[in-house]
Amino acid sequence: MRRKIAAGNWKMHGTKADLAEIAALVAAHGTMRAVDIVICPPATLLSRMADLTAGGAIRLGGQSCHAAPSGAHTGDISAPMLRDAGADYVIVGHSERRADHAETDAAVRAQAIAAQGAGLTPIICLGESHAQRAAGEAIAVVCAQMDQSLPQAGPFVIAYEPIWAIGTGLVPRLADITEIHAALRARLTQTHGRDLAQATPILYGGSVKPENARDILGLPDVDGALVGGASLKARDFGAIIEALQSTL
Ligand code: PGA
Repeated sequence: MRRKIAAGNWKMHGTKADLAEIAALVAAHGTMRAVDIVICPPATLLSRMADLTAGGAIRLGGQSCHAAPSGAHTGDISAPMLRDAGADYVIVGHSERRADHAETDAAVRAQAIAAQGAGLTPIICLGESHAQRAAGEAIAVVCAQMDQSLPQAGPFVIAYEPIWAIGTGLVPRLADITEIHAALRARLTQTHGRDLAQATPILYGGSVKPENARDILGLPDVDGALVGGASLKARDFGAIIEALQSTL
């Protein structure tokens, strides 16, 4: 059976002063083995967090990586560098990267392949805009994104994040989340085969909070959450971890 994952995406938030939140998370959930816990801090905090989480169950991830292992790419970070700093995962293709840095599906796929090559598991993000949802195109859009963004082989994690639900407090209807996750799993079965489709966690992301986590994480085919704002506080993220654990 595939593992359940609670992943936190700190985005461009966090300095040394915020390491207290990780220390609190380690104290409360650092030895929890029932679900996988991943924190993706800004790269500047990775090494320090690796020290704080060493020997425990909490894993770390990057928020993006370059497709090349090294080279003349000022300001970029490679997958082997993230690995070296203590990461086991890396988010690729987040809608904020796609929007801010014009990352295409092909670029996301190249990053995911680079991540795998460095021993990281890519968390590959997909999601429709509000206009696409309103036009009834959500399933077609996310399936097409998935086709173009995934490497040929696993392992990878998929995160369905409707763009209009990120940081807005809006969430899709539960039936809509269920529908998309089922469609992604079915499409993945067609493109990558049943074994990989069954083994691949599909996370939901977009305004997951302690108040809605139980309902969302209890849905069929939802294998966890990618959490932005609510992952910054150990207390809130801990409540989401516990909601996920209660679905086991
Ligand atoms: P949010 O962000 O939980 O703050 O909506 C989710 C994400 O962007 O991964």
